Amino acid sequence: MTNILLSGANGKMGQAVTRVAQSNDSVKIVAGYDINTTQNSDFPVYDKLSEVKENVKDIDAIIDFSHPAMFDSLLEFAKTNNIPVVFCTTGLSDEQISSMKAASKSAPIFFSANMSIGVNLLIDLVTKAAKILQDNFDIEIVEKHHNQKLDAPSGTALAIADSIADTVSYNAEYTYDRHSVRKKREKTEIGIHAVRGGTIVGEHDVIFAGNDEVIEVKHSAASKEVFAVGAVKAAVFMKGKSAGLYAMKDLIEES
Ligand SMILES: NC(=O)c1ccc[n+]([C@@H]2O[C@H](COP(=O)([O-])OP(=O)(O)OC[C@H]3O[C@@H](n4cnc5c(N)ncnc54)[C@H](O)[C@@H]3O)[C@@H](O)[C@H]2O)c1
Repeated sequence: MTNILLSGANGKMGQAVTRVAQSNDSVKIVAGYDINTTQNSDFPVYDKLSEVKENVKDIDAIIDFSHPAMFDSLLEFAKTNNIPVVFCTTGLSDEQISSMKAASKSAPIFFSANMSIGVNLLIDLVTKAAKILQDNFDIEIVEKHHNQKLDAPSGTALAIADSIADTVSYNAEYTYDRHSVRKKREKTEIGIHAVRGGTIVGEHDVIFAGNDEVIEVKHSAASKEVFAVGAVKAAVFMKGKSAGLYAMKDLIEES
């Protein structure tokens, strides 16, 4: 059994994690942490970590889907009590990322901007494909999201591009859409394109276009549950881990 403290318990993702945990016999959410303490579930929700009444020694992992404002106190709590923490909240500042990296020298920390196992597998696959195809194929990334999303391109599209750029032997340059550039495509470009509409949860399509052949690797998320499933798997993976900074690729490699 993995006992979990859920940060952001009353948010959309917190509720999704609660549903996933309820249908998984090997995990249990023992307490929640949220500025909104509405009682939605069968575990208590606290608005201060210092008020958590459950024995911290019985908590195996923390999952955080909340807000960057909660990051510092949560990191301190995890470090002090030596509880592995799975940070899923996005929009962390550079300082927060630096303090997470520093803390991972003495505490077990998991961080991924995209908790979907499928997206992380896609990154692994396209990185391998780019290594083989880089000389003869143009690489383009198309991402699609719902009409409420503020940022473009998505952080995941950039993470895919960064992994490919780290792999290819040339200095990759990112071209965002093409309307402002009126010239032929350079071999060293990675095109990144954002589409916004309706309720699309998230699609990422990586296109390798060669002479007379095209290879596409695509991931579609049909609901937010996929991120919750990944977070719960990460919490189970982190139980009992020693200090270090872990990511989805570590979980996939161990699976
Ligand atoms: N890593 C991933 O795969 C992934 C996937 C989905 C969402 N996210 C991220 O998880 C976070 C939560 O997403 P969500 O859709 O559940 O959001 P949400 O707004 O529905 O939930 C956030 C929860 O955090 C709480 N909260 C605590 N302190 C807060 C504060 N100071 N200000 C505002 N809210 C505070 C809110 O009360 C709320 O219950 C976001 O950063 C989102 O980008 C990450």
